[in-house]
Amino acid sequence: SFPVVVLISGSGSNLQALIDQSLQGNLDIEIKAVISNKASAYGLERAQKAGIPTHALSHKDFESREAFDTELAGLIDHYQPKLVVLAGFMRILTETFTRRYEGRMLNIHPSLLPKFKGLDTHQRAIDANEAEHGVSVHFVTAELDAGSVVLQASTLIEAGDTADKLAQKVHALEHIIYPLSVKWFSCGRLELKDGLAYLDGKPLPETGMR
Ligand code: GAR
Repeated sequence: SFPVVVLISGSGSNLQALIDQSLQGNLDIEIKAVISNKASAYGLERAQKAGIPTHALSHKDFESREAFDTELAGLIDHYQPKLVVLAGFMRILTETFTRRYEGRMLNIHPSLLPKFKGLDTHQRAIDANEAEHGVSVHFVTAELDAGSVVLQASTLIEAGDTADKLAQKVHALEHIIYPLSVKWFSCGRLELKDGLAYLDGKPLPETGMR
């Protein structure tokens, strides 16, 4: 089946969603390895429980972003994945790295892109008095959180929603749309052409499917 490498930095609930969907037969991928830039990431335990090889590669052991990314690319390429999945991977990647995997690397970002690139998205959406918030899956390109969007899901921001509450709502959506996006890619339905995402040969709108 379809070889994938997943990069994480934390809890790995999106990784878990991919594992679960594969086990349930809804997603025909093989997660060859899970790599974290933090040795303490709980997602590494999730991977080990699922029998997936894991690596902790701390960016702190490298003197530059370039040196870290070179080592990371070497590790990834060892597994010959057809897709690299960023699932809560909280490192900015160099242009050399993003170019190497252009068209075969997806990220999930907790906002309705192009709104709220970067960090702290839930609190920023509340502070901006947004009526709705959500999550985007996008192809990774050199510019942070700016690659072509594949799929978005949204939720209303209700009175009394805190950043934590919103994060929970968004996570529930993430666990639906990330496995679906990965499925589209692994089936050959999804591709990046000239910087634009295509589903079944048709260009997706700027905000992806919603
Ligand atoms: C997710 O909410 C994901 O959208 C976000 O990190 C969380 C990881 O959760 N990603 C980013 O903020 C990327 N800049 P998880 O470890 O439970 O999958």
